[in-house]
This record gives sequence, C-alpha cells and structure tokens, in this order.
Amino acid sequence: MVDTRTQPVSRTGVAAPRFSDADLYSLAERYGTPYFLIDEATLRRKVSEMEQGFSEYKGVFRVAYSVKANFNPSVIKAFVSEGILFDLTAPSELVFVLKAGGSSENVMYTSITESADEYERVIRMGVRKIVVASHNGLVNLTDAAAKAGVVVKTMIRVNPEVHVHAELRGSMGHGKFGLQFNGGSQDSAFYVLKKVLGTPGLEFEGFHFHLGSQIEDPACYADAIEKLEAFVLSARRQLGPFRVKTLDIGGGLPVPYGKKVPSPKDLGGKIVEQLNSLVESIGDRFTLVAESGRFLSAESTVLVSRVVNIKNFGEAKYIYVDAGYHVLLDSALLRHEYPVEVVPGGKPSPQKVALVGRLCDPLDVFPISSRSKLGGAEVGKLVVFREVGAYSLVMNMPFHSQPRPPVLMRNGQGTYGVARKAQDVEKLFADEGGDCLSN
Ligand SMILES: Cc1ncc(COP(=O)(O)O)c(C=O)c1O
Repeated sequence: MVDTRTQPVSRTGVAAPRFSDADLYSLAERYGTPYFLIDEATLRRKVSEMEQGFSEYKGVFRVAYSVKANFNPSVIKAFVSEGILFDLTAPSELVFVLKAGGSSENVMYTSITESADEYERVIRMGVRKIVVASHNGLVNLTDAAAKAGVVVKTMIRVNPEVHVHAELRGSMGHGKFGLQFNGGSQDSAFYVLKKVLGTPGLEFEGFHFHLGSQIEDPACYADAIEKLEAFVLSARRQLGPFRVKTLDIGGGLPVPYGKKVPSPKDLGGKIVEQLNSLVESIGDRFTLVAESGRFLSAESTVLVSRVVNIKNFGEAKYIYVDAGYHVLLDSALLRHEYPVEVVPGGKPSPQKVALVGRLCDPLDVFPISSRSKLGGAEVGKLVVFREVGAYSLVMNMPFHSQPRPPVLMRNGQGTYGVARKAQDVEKLFADEGGDCLSN
C-alpha cells in the first residue's frame, strides 16, 4: 500500500497522476534508474484548470506556458496542441517551440538582456509581440523593427514594487526585472510608454508584470493591479488617449508539493474580480494573459530512483538513492521539499530518516517533510519524487560525470514512450571535451 499521507492534494481535490507500481518497476527494468516520467493527460488538465480559474473574466483570457520551466519538446508539443500561448526568454527557446510545431504568432517574447541582435533574431523568426523592460531595450527593439521593416506589438514590463509572500519573489527589491512606473529616469514605464506611442514601427499592446513563483496569497496581485490602474489613468492625462489591448499578469500559480494550496479558481477568482473593475475603470476590455510555468508542468512528472544502500548512523537511518541534486537542483538550491514515497510503501519508520543522494557533497540530502517517513524502504525498492516537472529536468547537470537520465512520457492513450533519451557516458565524455583530446 502506498502511504497516502504523502500524496499531494490541491484544494480542487485533484491528486497528481498515479502510475501503477508494476508500470514503475517495468520502466525501471527497461530504462534503468533514475528516470523522469511525465503524464501528458496531467499537462492538458492543468491548462483547463487555469482556463476555469479565470473563466469569470469578462474579456478574452489566454493561458501562456512559460517554457523556461520545462523545455522538453514533448511537453511543448502537448501545449502546442492545446492552442495556448508561449512565454519565451531566449532565441533558443523559440527554436524549441517552432521545432515542436508551435507558431511564432503565439509567442510573447520577454527578454532579460534585450540586445539588438537578440531582437533581430527573434523578429526574423516571426515574433511580433515583444515585452520591453528598459530604455536601451526599447532603442534596440525600435532599430530591429525598422531594420526588418515590420511593426512590433510592444508590451511594457512594469515592476509594481509590491510585497509578495512567495517562495521566489520577482517584484519588490528585484530591480533586475521590469520598470518602475514613474522612476523619473528614461528607464521608467512612463517614459518608455511615451516613446512607444510616438514610434511608428512599434504598436503599443499593453502591460506585463511577473510578481514571483509559488504565490499563495492574491494580495500582491490586488496591489499590482491597483497601481497599474492609477498609472494608466495618470499617463492618459499626460500623454492623451491610448488603448490597453493586453494585460499579462505573469506566472506564480502555486503547486501543492504535499500541502494544500489555493487552486487557480481560488486565486484567479479573486484576481478576476479586480481585473473586471479595471476593465470598467480604464474602459478597455483587454485580453488577459496568465503565463504559468510551475503550475502547468510540475504535477505531471515524477522522478523515479532506486534505493541502493541503507545505513544506520546513531539514531538515524540513512537511505541512499541513485538520484542526487544533479537531477533535482532545487532540493539543494532552495531546500525545496518534494513529496516523496517508497514504492511499494510500508509502515513508517520509527527512526529518524535521512534521504540522501549519490553525490559526494554534504548538500546532497533531500529535504523531506516530517510526514515522509519513507515507510518500507529496502535496498532495490523504488523511491518516487512527485511534482518534479518544473525547473528540474531542465537543470540536470553532469556533476560527478553523471549522464542525464532518460525522460519518459505516458501519452493521452496511456502508452509509454521516450521523451528524452538517456545520455550515454561516451557522449557525455565527448561533450565535456573528450572529443578535443586529439586536437
Ligand atoms: C517573466 C516570467 N513569467 C512567468 C514565469 C513563470 O513563473 P511560474 O513558474 O512561477 O509560473 C517566470 C518565472 O521565472 C517569469 O520570469
């Protein structure tokens, strides 16, 4: 029996995908451990949960997938077939989306570096909706649009400087992202808006902000929307009329990770009320976009590892698995607790338990919640980490010469296939410089 106390349940009552023990063991036999396993049906279900969450919005609502969370081509392809938008931050992400069957028409491009050659490149590849976040970026975008002879729909990324209660904050105190509304310098939303409105090659499209990740309290969205409303009304008084056609409220929808978190309906419902008032107040029924990475991709995926050793040390029992933070970096970086269970489970251990990885590094101890007693752990059994689909397999690294594990996928028909081949140690050797030895 599986230990149900470690099962993640969101307020919508929907648990993460279940794979049968028999399937997990037979995939382990065939592909070795560790391996990632994605459930395509869960990816799709997350899109509809988001759409339901914002269904009370009185204008058009579009889901966007933030590709940085998981750029596996099979994941992108599943989202392409859902007809959603893509939030991209690098030309290479655009290559992935186009090669996976996506269209540049569905891309919103938000650069961090905003260099001229980056803008030229993505415009050449067909992107026409770009978010600017600095004066220099605006100058580069203007030149790139003029060079290509195209009109670019330009969004302005604002940093509303609101307080965010979240694991990862992207607003207050993070000047790296977005423009202050009225900072006084040319790097302010007011100045950039004025320039966009006066530039023939740019068409003002709207505003963008991203407040953080794993946000459970909607208060920060309320504060940001209130500040944006005041800004739009005041900018119109100074610059004359302009239309807000799109508002992108960024990502941040939370994932359970073993505890209850608000669903998109809980959060979206609250945010939408205020967005509907914003529509009334500014008189524009803008298209609303929410660009999620974590929420759309995390719950679909498990990491399957094997117990390779068990050791008693003082009062504690140390369970060694063949995974490590090289395949789940946030466990070391953010001390992130993924729900974890032994398959098949057993009685919770009365001893204190530590779950440790294969790396020779003191950081390679997986944070586990006090509820995860890892009952039934024995050498040879599988240990499954849940909800690992976001910001994990994209950060796999070859520390200790570890080849990247395979990524498997259960498709909508329930059939298992390979979504990323295991990296062979010969290939890793060559990629790490082995093929330069003869130079
Ligand atoms: C601009 C932007 N949008 C969306 C996201 C996705 O955030 P999340 O994965 O929390 O939904 C991020 C994450 O860093 C981001 O930087």
